[in-house]
Amino acid sequence: MLTLSNLTVSYDGSRVLRGVNLKVPEKSLICLMGRNGVGKTTTLKSIVGLVKLDTGTVTLGDDNLTGLPPDARARKGIGYVPQGRDIFPHLTVQENLKISVVVHGAKAAEQMDRVLELFPILKEFLQRKGGVLSGGQQQQLAIARALLTNPRVLILDEPTEGIQPNIIDLIGDALMKIKKEGKISILLVEQYLDFCLSIGDFFYIMDRGAVVANGPISDLNNDLVRRHLTV
Ligand SMILES: Nc1ncnc2c1ncn2[C@@H]1O[C@H](COP(=O)(O)OP(=O)(O)OP(=O)(O)O)[C@@H](O)[C@H]1O
Ligand SMILES: [Mg+2]
Repeated sequence: MLTLSNLTVSYDGSRVLRGVNLKVPEKSLICLMGRNGVGKTTTLKSIVGLVKLDTGTVTLGDDNLTGLPPDARARKGIGYVPQGRDIFPHLTVQENLKISVVVHGAKAAEQMDRVLELFPILKEFLQRKGGVLSGGQQQQLAIARALLTNPRVLILDEPTEGIQPNIIDLIGDALMKIKKEGKISILLVEQYLDFCLSIGDFFYIMDRGAVVANGPISDLNNDLVRRHLTV
């Protein structure tokens, strides 16, 4: 279980997280939702180690990750796909994937076949440059690369943003498969409500730097949507 306790974070002296508490149990898919600018990405960066906490702790199972640098957290099992797909446009698909293998070694190499099975389009396009892939294909590549690091928790920041519906479905199917295998839990920041309703187990909603509602996805009702999600 990944546990965030009382996270507070400030940028330039102004507080953007105000005591965030959140749990990602084993074998679950959590959707973290909220309007623009409420602190969703900052919450993910707190887990990955990309922002400095004012207070709070991040633990993964028995490991206290608080204060560890990002590479150490990755080795402990945090896999991260940032907002806007962060792939190398001038490298081929294969080279993009091999970077994970270089960094994470034999364990990543073992995962390659399985990951290409999850995203067959990548197998077909191994020799193409990352930069010529469509946005949805780049997103699949970014997820594939994160999976090669053998994460215990896969963290995704708005994977459906700007992506066409048929590829959103492919990504949703892949995430469901990963979750069902039972080895990786998933924390997803997502503003696309129907995507959350179709693949999520639990939701958290943030507003102005704090979690204002959470529960099983079936409890995500119109009133909550109107109050905290619609513009
Ligand atoms: N590096 C930074 N320096 C200063 N302020 C920042 C920085 N990054 C984010 N912020 C501010 O912190 C607040 C939370 O930003 P964050 O990116 O976490 O929100 P978000 O919920 O992910 O938004 P979005 O839905 O637009 O991605 C916003 O007001 C944002 O302008
Ligand atoms: Mg964001």
